Amino acid sequence: MSRLQKESKEMPKVTFIDPTGKEHPLDAKEGYSLMEVAVENDVPGIEADCGGACACATCHIYVEDDWLAKLTPIDDGEEAMVECADEYKEGTSRLACQIPVVEKLNGLVVKVVG
Ligand code: FES
Repeated sequence: MSRLQKESKEMPKVTFIDPTGKEHPLDAKEGYSLMEVAVENDVPGIEADCGGACACATCHIYVEDDWLAKLTPIDDGEEAMVECADEYKEGTSRLACQIPVVEKLNGLVVKVVG
């Protein structure tokens, strides 16, 4: 196995479902945020106007219950911002810029609210 294949194998796979329902399965590099992965791969619906400063809520996503416990817990700043987002859903809404990619997120599926 080449080094490239090994690196690719180790990258967590994350699937973004865009607002039209199209799935975008991506290799997500650890250390990046989910927002950065989405933007780098042109996933529709993630505008990221503030560049990840937790100040715009244009990276709003929904996360299934099963995955919420595996994510970095929501902090007060993210909670205050995401509550202002259109179509906010308590307990499901998160900001993609506040979620770092880690190995245990392999298989994660998130829905882009747009
Ligand atoms: S990119 Fe602005 S809040 Fe996430």
